[in-house]
Amino acid sequence: MSDKKLSDNERLKSESHLLRGTIKEDLTNDLTGGFLGDNFQLIRFHGMYQQDDRDIRAERTGQMLEPLHTVMLRVRLPGGIITPEQWIGIDKFASEHTQYGSIRITNRQALQLHGVLKKNIKPVHKLLHHLGLDSRATAGDVNRNVLCTSNPVESALHQQAYDWAKKISEHLLPRTNAYAEVWLDGEKIKHPEEETILGNSYLPRKFKTAVVIPPQNDVDLHANDLNFIAVGKEGKLQGFNVLVGGGLAMTQGDKTTYPRLASELGFIPLEATLSVAAAVVSTQRDWGNRTNRRNAKTKYTLDRVGVEVFKSEVEQRAGLVFQPVEPYQFTHRGDRIGWVSGTDNKYHLTLFIPSGRLIDKPGKPLKTGLAVIAKIHQGDFRLTPNQNIIIAGVSEEHKQQIDTLARQYGLIDDSVSSQRKHAMACVSYPTCPLAMAEAERVLPNIIDRLEEIFLRNDIPTESVIFRVTGCPNGCGRAMLAEIGLVGRAQGRYDLYLGGNREGTRIPRIYQENQKLEDIILILDSLLTKWAKYREKNEAFGDYAIRSKIVQPVLNSTVDFYL
Ligand code: HEM
Ligand code: SF4
Repeated sequence: MSDKKLSDNERLKSESHLLRGTIKEDLTNDLTGGFLGDNFQLIRFHGMYQQDDRDIRAERTGQMLEPLHTVMLRVRLPGGIITPEQWIGIDKFASEHTQYGSIRITNRQALQLHGVLKKNIKPVHKLLHHLGLDSRATAGDVNRNVLCTSNPVESALHQQAYDWAKKISEHLLPRTNAYAEVWLDGEKIKHPEEETILGNSYLPRKFKTAVVIPPQNDVDLHANDLNFIAVGKEGKLQGFNVLVGGGLAMTQGDKTTYPRLASELGFIPLEATLSVAAAVVSTQRDWGNRTNRRNAKTKYTLDRVGVEVFKSEVEQRAGLVFQPVEPYQFTHRGDRIGWVSGTDNKYHLTLFIPSGRLIDKPGKPLKTGLAVIAKIHQGDFRLTPNQNIIIAGVSEEHKQQIDTLARQYGLIDDSVSSQRKHAMACVSYPTCPLAMAEAERVLPNIIDRLEEIFLRNDIPTESVIFRVTGCPNGCGRAMLAEIGLVGRAQGRYDLYLGGNREGTRIPRIYQENQKLEDIILILDSLLTKWAKYREKNEAFGDYAIRSKIVQPVLNSTVDFYL
Protein backbone atom coordinates (compact mmCIF):
# COMPACT_ATOMS: atom_id res chain seq x y z
CA MET A 1 0.00 0.00 0.00
CA SER A 2 2.73 2.42 0.97
CA ASP A 3 4.26 2.45 -2.52
CA LYS A 4 1.00 3.64 -4.05
CA LYS A 5 0.19 7.29 -4.48
CA LEU A 6 -1.90 8.89 -1.76
CA SER A 7 -5.30 10.04 -2.90
CA ASP A 8 -5.73 13.74 -3.64
CA ASN A 9 -7.96 14.11 -0.59
CA GLU A 10 -4.92 13.20 1.51
CA ARG A 11 -2.93 16.02 -0.02
CA LEU A 12 -5.66 18.54 0.56
CA LYS A 13 -6.22 17.49 4.16
CA SER A 14 -2.52 17.65 5.00
CA GLU A 15 -2.09 21.02 3.23
CA SER A 16 -5.24 22.51 4.75
CA HIS A 17 -3.66 24.09 7.85
CA LEU A 18 -5.97 22.04 10.01
CA LEU A 19 -9.06 22.52 7.86
CA ARG A 20 -8.68 26.23 7.19
CA GLY A 21 -7.61 26.15 3.56
CA THR A 22 -8.50 29.46 1.97
CA ILE A 23 -12.17 29.26 2.85
CA LYS A 24 -12.11 32.77 4.32
CA GLU A 25 -10.91 34.22 0.99
CA ASP A 26 -13.57 32.31 -0.92
CA LEU A 27 -16.26 33.70 1.34
CA THR A 28 -15.52 37.21 0.16
CA ASN A 29 -15.20 36.26 -3.52
CA ASP A 30 -18.36 37.64 -5.14
CA LEU A 31 -17.51 36.29 -8.59
CA THR A 32 -18.85 32.86 -7.75
CA GLY A 33 -21.53 31.58 -5.41
CA GLY A 34 -19.43 28.50 -4.73
CA PHE A 35 -16.17 27.40 -3.14
CA LEU A 36 -13.08 26.78 -5.25
CA GLY A 37 -10.42 24.08 -5.38
CA ASP A 38 -9.69 22.36 -2.08
CA ASN A 39 -12.19 24.53 -0.24
CA PHE A 40 -15.01 22.73 -2.04
CA GLN A 41 -13.99 19.62 -0.05
CA LEU A 42 -12.80 21.35 3.12
CA ILE A 43 -16.16 22.94 3.93
CA ARG A 44 -17.47 19.40 4.45
CA PHE A 45 -15.37 19.07 7.60
CA HIS A 46 -17.30 22.09 8.84
CA GLY A 47 -20.60 20.37 8.09
CA MET A 48 -21.48 21.67 4.65
CA TYR A 49 -21.77 20.29 1.13
CA GLN A 50 -21.79 22.55 -1.88
CA GLN A 51 -24.82 21.75 -4.01
CA ASP A 52 -27.06 23.17 -6.68
CA ASP A 53 -30.65 22.53 -7.65
CA ARG A 54 -30.41 19.81 -10.30
CA ASP A 55 -33.97 20.47 -11.45
CA ILE A 56 -32.91 23.86 -12.81
CA ARG A 57 -29.28 23.17 -13.74
CA ALA A 58 -29.89 22.83 -17.50
CA GLU A 59 -32.05 25.92 -17.56
CA ARG A 60 -29.30 27.99 -15.91
CA THR A 61 -26.66 26.64 -18.29
CA GLY A 62 -28.93 27.73 -21.15
CA GLN A 63 -28.97 31.21 -19.67
CA MET A 64 -25.14 31.16 -19.50
CA LEU A 65 -25.30 31.24 -15.70
CA GLU A 66 -23.24 29.14 -13.33
CA PRO A 67 -25.34 26.61 -11.39
CA LEU A 68 -27.14 28.25 -8.46
CA HIS A 69 -24.60 27.28 -5.82
CA THR A 70 -25.82 26.89 -2.28
CA VAL A 71 -24.71 24.77 0.64
CA MET A 72 -26.51 22.08 2.53
CA LEU A 73 -25.64 22.50 6.19
CA ARG A 74 -25.89 19.68 8.73
CA VAL A 75 -26.36 20.51 12.41
CA ARG A 76 -24.57 18.24 14.90
CA LEU A 77 -26.95 16.80 17.46
CA PRO A 78 -25.49 13.81 19.34
CA GLY A 79 -28.36 11.43 20.10
CA GLY A 80 -30.67 13.77 18.18
CA ILE A 81 -31.66 15.89 21.17
CA ILE A 82 -32.59 19.52 20.61
CA THR A 83 -34.36 22.03 22.84
CA PRO A 84 -37.48 23.97 21.82
CA GLU A 85 -35.50 27.25 21.87
CA GLN A 86 -32.91 25.78 19.51
CA TRP A 87 -35.68 24.47 17.28
CA ILE A 88 -37.36 27.85 17.06
CA GLY A 89 -34.08 29.53 16.08
CA ILE A 90 -33.36 27.02 13.32
CA ASP A 91 -36.96 27.07 12.10
CA LYS A 92 -36.87 30.82 11.65
CA PHE A 93 -33.61 30.68 9.72
CA ALA A 94 -34.96 27.91 7.47
CA SER A 95 -38.08 29.96 6.67
CA GLU A 96 -36.31 33.21 6.01
CA HIS A 97 -32.95 32.26 4.52
CA THR A 98 -33.02 28.91 2.73
CA GLN A 99 -33.97 28.14 -0.84
CA TYR A 100 -36.46 25.39 0.07
CA GLY A 101 -37.82 26.66 3.39
CA SER A 102 -37.56 23.18 4.85
CA ILE A 103 -35.77 21.40 7.66
CA ARG A 104 -34.83 17.78 7.13
CA ILE A 105 -34.44 15.29 9.96
CA THR A 106 -31.77 12.86 8.80
CA ASN A 107 -31.58 9.18 9.54
CA ARG A 108 -28.44 9.90 11.53
CA GLN A 109 -30.31 12.20 13.94
CA ALA A 110 -28.95 15.43 12.52
CA LEU A 111 -30.78 18.33 10.92
CA GLN A 112 -30.15 19.45 7.37
CA LEU A 113 -30.83 22.88 5.95
CA HIS A 114 -30.86 22.82 2.16
CA GLY A 115 -30.17 25.78 -0.05
CA VAL A 116 -28.13 28.23 2.04
CA LEU A 117 -26.59 31.00 -0.09
CA LYS A 118 -22.97 32.02 0.51
CA LYS A 119 -23.96 35.31 2.11
CA ASN A 120 -26.03 33.44 4.70
CA ILE A 121 -23.38 30.90 5.72
CA LYS A 122 -21.62 32.96 8.37
CA PRO A 123 -24.93 34.15 9.84
CA VAL A 124 -26.18 30.58 10.19
CA HIS A 125 -23.00 29.46 11.98
CA LYS A 126 -23.29 32.45 14.30
CA LEU A 127 -26.90 31.61 14.96
CA LEU A 128 -26.03 28.00 15.76
CA HIS A 129 -23.26 29.16 18.08
CA HIS A 130 -25.69 31.50 19.82
CA LEU A 131 -28.05 28.54 20.30
CA GLY A 132 -25.25 26.37 21.74
CA LEU A 133 -25.01 24.28 18.58
CA ASP A 134 -22.60 23.79 15.68
CA SER A 135 -22.15 21.85 12.47
CA ARG A 136 -18.64 20.66 13.21
CA ALA A 137 -17.63 17.26 11.88
CA THR A 138 -21.04 16.39 10.48
CA ALA A 139 -19.42 15.57 7.14
CA GLY A 140 -15.86 14.92 5.92
CA ASP A 141 -13.26 12.38 7.01
CA VAL A 142 -13.93 12.59 10.73
CA ASN A 143 -16.16 11.00 13.33
CA ARG A 144 -19.62 12.28 12.45
CA ASN A 145 -22.75 12.90 14.49
CA VAL A 146 -22.94 10.22 17.20
CA LEU A 147 -26.24 8.34 17.30
CA CYS A 148 -28.16 7.12 20.31
CA THR A 149 -31.27 4.93 20.33
CA SER A 150 -34.20 7.24 20.90
CA ASN A 151 -36.05 5.04 23.35
CA PRO A 152 -38.60 7.13 25.16
CA VAL A 153 -39.83 4.39 27.48
CA GLU A 154 -36.74 3.30 29.35
CA SER A 155 -35.99 6.83 30.34
CA ALA A 156 -33.32 6.09 32.94
CA LEU A 157 -31.18 3.99 30.62
CA HIS A 158 -31.74 6.40 27.75
CA GLN A 159 -30.45 9.33 29.76
CA GLN A 160 -27.25 7.49 30.66
CA ALA A 161 -26.67 6.19 27.14
CA TYR A 162 -27.36 9.63 25.70
CA ASP A 163 -24.82 11.20 28.06
CA TRP A 164 -22.22 8.83 26.65
CA ALA A 165 -23.18 9.58 23.04
CA LYS A 166 -22.56 13.23 23.80
CA LYS A 167 -19.26 12.57 25.55
CA ILE A 168 -18.03 10.37 22.69
CA SER A 169 -19.02 13.03 20.16
CA GLU A 170 -17.09 15.74 22.03
CA HIS A 171 -14.08 13.49 22.63
CA LEU A 172 -13.68 12.67 18.96
CA LEU A 173 -14.23 16.17 17.56
CA PRO A 174 -11.43 17.88 15.63
CA ARG A 175 -9.36 20.03 18.00
CA THR A 176 -8.49 22.66 15.39
CA ASN A 177 -9.75 26.16 15.99
CA ALA A 178 -10.54 26.51 12.27
CA TYR A 179 -14.32 26.42 12.73
CA ALA A 180 -14.31 29.34 15.17
CA GLU A 181 -11.83 31.34 13.09
CA VAL A 182 -13.54 30.90 9.75
CA TRP A 183 -17.22 31.09 10.66
CA LEU A 184 -17.44 32.84 14.02
CA ASP A 185 -14.74 35.48 13.55
CA GLY A 186 -12.92 33.79 16.42
CA GLU A 187 -9.43 34.78 17.50
CA LYS A 188 -6.43 32.87 16.19
CA ILE A 189 -5.23 30.78 19.10
CA LYS A 190 -1.58 31.22 20.02
CA HIS A 191 -0.56 27.77 21.24
CA PRO A 192 0.08 24.96 18.75
CA GLU A 193 -3.05 22.98 17.96
CA GLU A 194 -2.76 19.24 18.08
CA GLU A 195 -5.10 16.70 16.58
CA THR A 196 -4.16 14.02 19.09
CA ILE A 197 -6.87 11.56 18.10
CA LEU A 198 -7.73 12.32 14.49
CA GLY A 199 -4.23 13.29 13.36
CA ASN A 200 -3.26 16.27 11.21
CA SER A 201 -4.47 14.50 8.05
CA TYR A 202 -7.69 13.44 9.76
CA LEU A 203 -9.19 10.04 9.00
CA PRO A 204 -8.85 8.12 5.74
CA ARG A 205 -12.61 8.33 5.26
CA LYS A 206 -15.82 9.26 7.06
CA PHE A 207 -16.38 7.50 10.38
CA LYS A 208 -19.71 6.79 12.07
CA THR A 209 -20.46 5.95 15.68
CA ALA A 210 -23.63 4.83 17.46
CA VAL A 211 -24.76 4.05 20.99
CA VAL A 212 -27.46 1.38 20.86
CA ILE A 213 -30.02 0.35 23.48
CA PRO A 214 -31.38 -3.15 22.74
CA PRO A 215 -33.88 -4.52 21.94
CA GLN A 216 -34.35 -1.53 19.65
CA ASN A 217 -32.00 -1.20 16.70
CA ASP A 218 -33.37 2.05 15.33
CA VAL A 219 -29.83 3.34 14.79
CA ASP A 220 -29.09 0.43 12.44
CA LEU A 221 -25.87 -0.39 14.18
CA HIS A 222 -24.54 -2.30 11.20
CA ALA A 223 -24.39 0.92 9.22
CA ASN A 224 -21.78 2.31 11.64
CA ASP A 225 -18.01 1.98 11.95
CA LEU A 226 -18.13 1.89 15.74
CA ASN A 227 -20.98 0.80 17.99
CA PHE A 228 -21.48 0.77 21.72
CA ILE A 229 -24.33 -1.57 22.65
CA ALA A 230 -25.65 -0.60 26.08
CA VAL A 231 -25.63 -3.33 28.70
CA GLY A 232 -27.90 -2.35 31.58
CA LYS A 233 -29.04 -3.96 34.80
CA GLU A 234 -32.21 -2.75 36.48
CA GLY A 235 -32.08 0.56 34.64
CA LYS A 236 -28.41 1.15 35.39
CA LEU A 237 -25.87 1.20 32.59
CA GLN A 238 -23.00 -1.25 33.26
CA GLY A 239 -20.91 -0.99 30.14
CA PHE A 240 -20.96 -1.63 26.40
CA ASN A 241 -20.49 -4.40 23.90
CA VAL A 242 -18.25 -2.92 21.22
CA LEU A 243 -18.84 -3.72 17.54
CA VAL A 244 -16.65 -2.37 14.77
CA GLY A 245 -16.65 -2.20 10.98
CA GLY A 246 -20.22 -1.87 9.77
CA GLY A 247 -20.92 0.11 6.62
CA LEU A 248 -23.33 0.08 3.71
CA ALA A 249 -21.83 2.00 0.81
CA MET A 250 -20.66 0.32 -2.37
CA THR A 251 -19.60 1.52 -5.79
CA GLN A 252 -21.45 0.38 -8.88
CA GLY A 253 -19.35 -2.15 -10.81
CA ASP A 254 -16.54 -2.38 -8.24
CA LYS A 255 -16.69 -5.73 -6.47
CA THR A 256 -13.99 -4.76 -4.00
CA THR A 257 -16.71 -2.64 -2.39
CA TYR A 258 -19.61 -4.15 -0.45
CA PRO A 259 -21.88 -3.57 2.53
CA ARG A 260 -20.63 -5.23 5.71
CA LEU A 261 -22.04 -5.98 9.15
CA ALA A 262 -20.10 -4.81 12.20
CA SER A 263 -17.94 -7.40 14.02
CA GLU A 264 -17.99 -7.99 17.77
CA LEU A 265 -14.83 -7.06 19.69
CA GLY A 266 -16.14 -7.62 23.22
CA PHE A 267 -17.54 -6.04 26.38
CA ILE A 268 -16.00 -3.04 28.14
CA PRO A 269 -16.85 -1.33 31.44
CA LEU A 270 -18.19 2.23 31.24
CA GLU A 271 -14.98 3.92 32.31
CA ALA A 272 -13.15 2.49 29.27
CA THR A 273 -15.58 4.01 26.76
CA LEU A 274 -13.64 7.07 25.69
CA SER A 275 -10.27 5.34 25.53
CA VAL A 276 -11.73 2.51 23.43
CA ALA A 277 -13.43 5.02 21.13
CA ALA A 278 -10.12 6.84 20.66
CA ALA A 279 -8.24 3.56 20.18
CA VAL A 280 -10.59 2.34 17.45
CA VAL A 281 -10.46 5.71 15.69
CA SER A 282 -6.69 5.99 15.89
CA THR A 283 -6.19 2.41 14.66
CA GLN A 284 -8.36 3.19 11.65
CA ARG A 285 -6.48 6.50 11.27
CA ASP A 286 -3.15 4.67 11.04
CA TRP A 287 -4.22 1.49 9.22
CA GLY A 288 -6.97 2.70 6.90
CA ASN A 289 -6.28 2.83 3.18
CA ARG A 290 -5.24 6.35 2.15
CA THR A 291 -4.50 5.53 -1.49
CA ASN A 292 -7.96 4.38 -2.57
CA ARG A 293 -10.97 6.09 -1.07
CA ARG A 294 -13.27 3.33 -2.22
CA ASN A 295 -11.54 0.93 0.15
CA ALA A 296 -10.76 3.35 2.92
CA LYS A 297 -13.50 2.71 5.44
CA THR A 298 -12.99 0.75 8.66
CA LYS A 299 -14.87 -2.24 7.24
CA TYR A 300 -12.15 -2.77 4.61
CA THR A 301 -9.34 -2.24 7.14
CA LEU A 302 -10.87 -5.02 9.26
CA ASP A 303 -11.15 -7.37 6.32
CA ARG A 304 -7.59 -6.63 5.25
CA VAL A 305 -5.88 -7.14 8.61
CA GLY A 306 -8.41 -9.50 10.22
CA VAL A 307 -10.75 -8.80 13.14
CA GLU A 308 -8.42 -10.42 15.73
CA VAL A 309 -5.42 -8.31 14.71
CA PHE A 310 -7.51 -5.14 14.77
CA LYS A 311 -8.92 -6.10 18.15
CA SER A 312 -5.53 -6.67 19.79
CA GLU A 313 -4.27 -3.36 18.43
CA VAL A 314 -7.27 -1.61 20.01
CA GLU A 315 -6.63 -3.47 23.28
CA GLN A 316 -3.04 -2.34 23.28
CA ARG A 317 -3.87 1.27 22.50
CA ALA A 318 -6.70 1.41 25.07
CA GLY A 319 -4.73 -0.53 27.69
CA LEU A 320 -7.38 -3.17 28.36
CA VAL A 321 -8.53 -6.62 27.39
CA PHE A 322 -12.02 -7.00 25.93
CA GLN A 323 -14.27 -9.21 28.01
CA PRO A 324 -16.60 -11.71 26.33
CA VAL A 325 -19.64 -10.10 24.72
CA GLU A 326 -22.65 -9.85 27.05
CA PRO A 327 -25.81 -11.39 25.55
CA TYR A 328 -28.00 -8.94 23.63
CA GLN A 329 -30.89 -9.21 21.26
CA PHE A 330 -32.67 -6.93 18.85
CA THR A 331 -36.36 -7.21 18.10
CA HIS A 332 -37.25 -4.15 16.05
CA ARG A 333 -36.13 -0.96 14.36
CA GLY A 334 -39.25 1.12 13.86
CA ASP A 335 -40.49 3.96 16.05
CA ARG A 336 -43.65 3.63 18.13
CA ILE A 337 -45.68 6.43 16.58
CA GLY A 338 -48.05 8.10 19.05
CA TRP A 339 -48.04 8.66 22.81
CA VAL A 340 -46.17 6.49 25.30
CA SER A 341 -45.53 7.09 28.96
CA GLY A 342 -41.98 6.72 30.19
CA THR A 343 -40.59 5.31 33.43
CA ASP A 344 -40.19 8.97 34.44
CA ASN A 345 -43.98 9.55 34.58
CA LYS A 346 -43.68 11.87 31.60
CA TYR A 347 -45.38 11.43 28.25
CA HIS A 348 -43.65 11.24 24.91
CA LEU A 349 -45.27 11.77 21.54
CA THR A 350 -43.55 10.34 18.46
CA LEU A 351 -44.63 12.10 15.29
CA PHE A 352 -44.31 10.42 11.92
CA ILE A 353 -42.58 12.84 9.52
CA PRO A 354 -42.51 11.59 5.90
CA SER A 355 -38.80 11.24 4.97
CA GLY A 356 -38.03 13.59 7.85
CA ARG A 357 -38.97 16.59 5.72
CA LEU A 358 -40.52 19.41 7.69
CA ILE A 359 -42.11 21.72 5.19
CA ASP A 360 -45.42 23.52 4.95
CA LYS A 361 -47.71 22.05 2.32
CA PRO A 362 -51.33 22.94 1.65
CA GLY A 363 -53.41 21.31 4.37
CA LYS A 364 -50.25 19.98 6.07
CA PRO A 365 -48.22 22.84 7.57
CA LEU A 366 -45.93 20.43 9.44
CA LYS A 367 -43.07 22.88 9.84
CA THR A 368 -45.24 25.65 11.27
CA GLY A 369 -46.98 23.12 13.49
CA LEU A 370 -43.76 22.03 15.09
CA ALA A 371 -42.66 25.62 15.62
CA VAL A 372 -45.97 26.38 17.32
CA ILE A 373 -45.53 23.36 19.59
CA ALA A 374 -41.91 24.40 20.32
CA LYS A 375 -43.20 27.68 21.69
CA ILE A 376 -45.16 25.96 24.46
CA HIS A 377 -43.23 22.69 24.97
CA GLN A 378 -41.24 22.42 28.18
CA GLY A 379 -39.37 19.17 27.56
CA ASP A 380 -37.09 18.51 24.61
CA PHE A 381 -37.29 17.14 21.09
CA ARG A 382 -35.58 13.95 19.98
CA LEU A 383 -34.88 13.18 16.36
CA THR A 384 -35.03 9.48 15.64
CA PRO A 385 -32.84 7.50 13.23
CA ASN A 386 -36.08 6.74 11.37
CA GLN A 387 -36.32 10.45 10.49
CA ASN A 388 -39.17 11.07 12.94
CA ILE A 389 -39.38 13.40 15.91
CA ILE A 390 -40.32 12.76 19.53
CA ILE A 391 -41.87 15.50 21.64
CA ALA A 392 -40.32 14.22 24.84
CA GLY A 393 -40.95 14.88 28.50
CA VAL A 394 -44.53 16.19 28.36
CA SER A 395 -46.30 16.57 31.69
CA GLU A 396 -49.83 15.29 32.22
CA GLU A 397 -51.25 18.82 32.15
CA HIS A 398 -49.71 19.73 28.76
CA LYS A 399 -50.55 16.46 27.04
CA GLN A 400 -53.96 17.43 25.72
CA GLN A 401 -52.80 20.81 24.45
CA ILE A 402 -49.92 19.31 22.51
CA ASP A 403 -52.10 16.55 21.12
CA THR A 404 -54.65 19.09 19.89
CA LEU A 405 -52.00 21.25 18.20
CA ALA A 406 -50.32 18.25 16.59
CA ARG A 407 -53.64 17.16 15.09
CA GLN A 408 -54.50 20.67 13.99
CA TYR A 409 -51.29 20.99 11.94
CA GLY A 410 -51.42 17.50 10.44
CA LEU A 411 -48.57 16.17 12.60
CA ILE A 412 -50.79 13.38 13.91
CA ASP A 413 -52.54 11.51 11.15
CA ASP A 414 -54.19 8.30 12.29
CA SER A 415 -54.72 7.18 8.70
CA VAL A 416 -50.99 6.68 7.98
CA SER A 417 -50.45 2.98 7.24
CA SER A 418 -47.98 0.75 9.00
CA GLN A 419 -46.15 0.33 5.69
CA ARG A 420 -45.65 4.06 5.29
CA LYS A 421 -44.15 4.20 8.77
CA HIS A 422 -41.70 1.43 7.91
CA ALA A 423 -40.32 3.05 4.78
CA MET A 424 -37.30 5.26 4.31
CA ALA A 425 -35.67 7.20 1.51
CA CYS A 426 -32.54 9.29 1.19
CA VAL A 427 -32.68 12.90 -0.03
CA SER A 428 -31.49 12.30 -3.60
CA TYR A 429 -32.89 14.76 -6.22
CA PRO A 430 -32.94 17.70 -6.52
CA THR A 431 -30.07 18.56 -4.13
CA CYS A 432 -27.77 15.56 -3.92
CA PRO A 433 -25.02 15.81 -6.54
CA LEU A 434 -24.54 12.03 -6.52
CA ALA A 435 -28.15 11.06 -7.12
CA MET A 436 -28.81 8.66 -9.99
CA ALA A 437 -32.54 8.10 -9.40
CA GLU A 438 -35.30 9.70 -7.36
CA ALA A 439 -35.73 8.54 -3.75
CA GLU A 440 -37.54 10.85 -1.28
CA ARG A 441 -39.79 12.29 -3.99
CA VAL A 442 -40.83 8.91 -5.39
CA LEU A 443 -41.33 7.08 -2.08
CA PRO A 444 -44.92 8.22 -1.36
CA ASN A 445 -46.12 6.89 -4.74
CA ILE A 446 -44.40 3.55 -4.24
CA ILE A 447 -45.99 3.21 -0.81
CA ASP A 448 -49.42 3.93 -2.34
CA ARG A 449 -48.84 0.93 -4.59
CA LEU A 450 -47.64 -1.31 -1.77
CA GLU A 451 -50.70 -0.34 0.27
CA GLU A 452 -52.91 -1.41 -2.66
CA ILE A 453 -51.13 -4.76 -2.81
CA PHE A 454 -51.54 -5.32 0.94
CA LEU A 455 -55.19 -4.35 0.81
CA ARG A 456 -55.88 -6.69 -2.09
CA ASN A 457 -54.28 -9.51 -0.11
CA ASP A 458 -56.24 -8.74 2.99
CA ILE A 459 -53.20 -7.72 5.05
CA PRO A 460 -53.72 -3.94 5.28
CA THR A 461 -51.91 -3.55 8.60
CA GLU A 462 -48.80 -5.49 7.55
CA SER A 463 -45.49 -3.90 6.71
CA VAL A 464 -42.06 -4.64 5.34
CA ILE A 465 -38.89 -2.67 6.05
CA PHE A 466 -38.77 -0.92 2.66
CA ARG A 467 -36.09 1.55 1.67
CA VAL A 468 -35.09 3.50 -1.41
CA THR A 469 -31.71 5.05 -1.93
CA GLY A 470 -30.84 7.23 -4.90
CA CYS A 471 -27.41 5.69 -5.60
CA PRO A 472 -25.20 2.87 -4.28
CA ASN A 473 -23.73 5.11 -1.56
CA GLY A 474 -26.75 3.95 0.35
CA CYS A 475 -27.66 6.86 2.62
CA GLY A 476 -31.22 5.52 2.81
CA ARG A 477 -29.81 2.29 4.36
CA ALA A 478 -31.41 0.07 1.73
CA MET A 479 -28.64 -2.46 2.39
CA LEU A 480 -30.33 -3.31 5.69
CA ALA A 481 -33.90 -3.42 4.35
CA GLU A 482 -36.16 -6.39 3.74
CA ILE A 483 -36.83 -4.81 0.35
CA GLY A 484 -34.26 -2.30 -0.86
CA LEU A 485 -34.16 -0.23 -4.04
CA VAL A 486 -30.85 1.23 -5.14
CA GLY A 487 -30.88 3.88 -7.87
CA ARG A 488 -29.04 3.12 -11.11
CA ALA A 489 -30.39 5.78 -13.50
CA GLN A 490 -33.46 8.01 -13.80
CA GLY A 491 -36.42 5.75 -13.14
CA ARG A 492 -34.31 2.58 -12.79
CA TYR A 493 -33.26 0.64 -9.72
CA ASP A 494 -31.59 -2.54 -8.52
CA LEU A 495 -33.92 -4.58 -6.35
CA TYR A 496 -32.55 -6.23 -3.19
CA LEU A 497 -34.44 -8.72 -1.03
CA GLY A 498 -33.91 -10.71 2.13
CA GLY A 499 -32.75 -8.42 4.92
CA ASN A 500 -34.47 -9.06 8.23
CA ARG A 501 -36.64 -6.97 10.55
CA GLU A 502 -33.95 -6.65 13.20
CA GLY A 503 -31.40 -5.24 10.77
CA THR A 504 -28.82 -7.98 11.18
CA ARG A 505 -28.85 -9.40 7.65
CA ILE A 506 -27.81 -7.74 4.41
CA PRO A 507 -30.23 -8.27 1.50
CA ARG A 508 -29.17 -9.82 -1.81
CA ILE A 509 -29.64 -8.48 -5.32
CA TYR A 510 -32.68 -10.04 -6.99
CA GLN A 511 -33.16 -7.99 -10.16
CA GLU A 512 -30.83 -5.46 -11.72
CA ASN A 513 -31.52 -2.12 -13.38
CA GLN A 514 -35.31 -2.43 -13.57
CA LYS A 515 -37.91 0.20 -14.32
CA LEU A 516 -39.90 1.20 -11.29
CA GLU A 517 -43.12 -0.01 -12.87
CA ASP A 518 -41.61 -3.47 -13.41
CA ILE A 519 -40.33 -3.56 -9.84
CA ILE A 520 -43.87 -2.91 -8.59
CA LEU A 521 -45.09 -5.87 -10.66
CA ILE A 522 -42.36 -8.11 -9.24
CA LEU A 523 -43.17 -7.00 -5.70
CA ASP A 524 -46.88 -7.50 -6.31
CA SER A 525 -46.26 -11.14 -7.16
CA LEU A 526 -43.80 -11.75 -4.29
CA LEU A 527 -45.85 -10.00 -1.62
CA THR A 528 -48.98 -11.87 -2.75
CA LYS A 529 -47.13 -15.17 -2.28
CA TRP A 530 -45.89 -14.02 1.12
CA ALA A 531 -49.45 -13.15 2.20
CA LYS A 532 -50.56 -16.66 1.21
CA TYR A 533 -47.71 -18.90 2.22
CA ARG A 534 -45.92 -17.25 5.11
CA GLU A 535 -45.69 -18.93 8.47
CA LYS A 536 -47.18 -17.26 11.52
CA ASN A 537 -45.56 -13.85 12.04
CA GLU A 538 -42.99 -14.60 9.34
CA ALA A 539 -41.48 -11.36 8.07
CA PHE A 540 -41.17 -10.90 4.32
CA GLY A 541 -37.37 -10.92 4.40
CA ASP A 542 -37.34 -14.25 6.24
CA TYR A 543 -39.95 -15.66 3.87
CA ALA A 544 -37.83 -14.60 0.89
CA ILE A 545 -34.94 -16.63 2.30
CA ARG A 546 -36.97 -19.68 3.38
CA SER A 547 -38.74 -19.95 0.05
CA LYS A 548 -35.41 -19.53 -1.74
CA ILE A 549 -36.41 -16.40 -3.63
CA VAL A 550 -32.88 -15.29 -2.74
CA GLN A 551 -29.97 -16.99 -0.99
CA PRO A 552 -29.09 -15.31 2.30
CA VAL A 553 -26.00 -13.15 2.51
CA LEU A 554 -24.14 -14.88 5.35
CA ASN A 555 -20.77 -13.17 5.16
CA SER A 556 -20.89 -10.27 2.74
CA THR A 557 -17.08 -10.00 2.57
CA VAL A 558 -17.07 -13.20 0.53
CA ASP A 559 -20.64 -13.92 -0.57
CA PHE A 560 -22.28 -10.61 -1.45
CA TYR A 561 -21.57 -10.98 -5.18
CA LEU A 562 -22.21 -14.74 -5.50
C1 HEM B 1 -19.56 6.93 -0.18
C2 HEM B 1 -20.61 7.00 0.49
C3 HEM B 1 -21.50 8.22 0.68
C4 HEM B 1 -21.47 9.46 0.12
C5 HEM B 1 -20.48 10.02 -0.89
C6 HEM B 1 -22.59 10.19 0.68
C7 HEM B 1 -22.92 11.50 0.34
C8 HEM B 1 -24.04 12.13 0.78
C9 HEM B 1 -24.52 13.41 0.32
C10 HEM B 1 -23.88 14.26 -0.75
C11 HEM B 1 -25.64 13.70 1.01
C12 HEM B 1 -26.47 14.96 0.92
C13 HEM B 1 -27.73 14.82 0.16
C14 HEM B 1 -28.63 16.00 0.37
O1 HEM B 1 -29.08 16.22 1.49
O2 HEM B 1 -28.91 16.74 -0.59
C15 HEM B 1 -25.86 12.61 1.93
C16 HEM B 1 -26.89 12.55 2.83
C17 HEM B 1 -26.96 11.61 3.85
N1 HEM B 1 -26.20 10.50 3.97
FE1 HEM B 1 -24.74 9.96 2.78
N2 HEM B 1 -23.23 9.40 1.56
C18 HEM B 1 -22.62 8.18 1.59
C19 HEM B 1 -22.97 7.09 2.34
C20 HEM B 1 -23.86 7.11 3.40
C21 HEM B 1 -24.21 5.99 4.24
C22 HEM B 1 -23.69 4.58 4.06
C23 HEM B 1 -25.08 6.46 5.17
C24 HEM B 1 -25.76 5.75 6.32
C25 HEM B 1 -25.99 4.54 6.38
C26 HEM B 1 -25.29 7.86 4.89
C27 HEM B 1 -26.12 8.68 5.60
C28 HEM B 1 -26.59 9.87 5.12
C29 HEM B 1 -27.62 10.61 5.75
C30 HEM B 1 -28.31 10.25 7.06
C31 HEM B 1 -27.86 11.71 4.95
C32 HEM B 1 -28.86 12.79 5.24
C33 HEM B 1 -30.07 12.66 4.52
C34 HEM B 1 -30.92 11.48 4.83
O3 HEM B 1 -31.39 11.30 5.99
O4 HEM B 1 -31.20 10.75 3.88
N3 HEM B 1 -24.54 8.22 3.82
N4 HEM B 1 -24.88 11.67 1.77
S1 SF4 C 1 -27.71 7.58 -1.44
FE1 SF4 C 1 -26.78 8.66 -3.09
S2 SF4 C 1 -28.47 9.87 -3.88
FE2 SF4 C 1 -29.06 9.32 -1.84
S3 SF4 C 1 -28.37 11.04 -0.56
FE3 SF4 C 1 -26.78 9.44 -0.55
S4 SF4 C 1 -25.35 10.07 -2.09
FE4 SF4 C 1 -27.28 11.17 -2.47
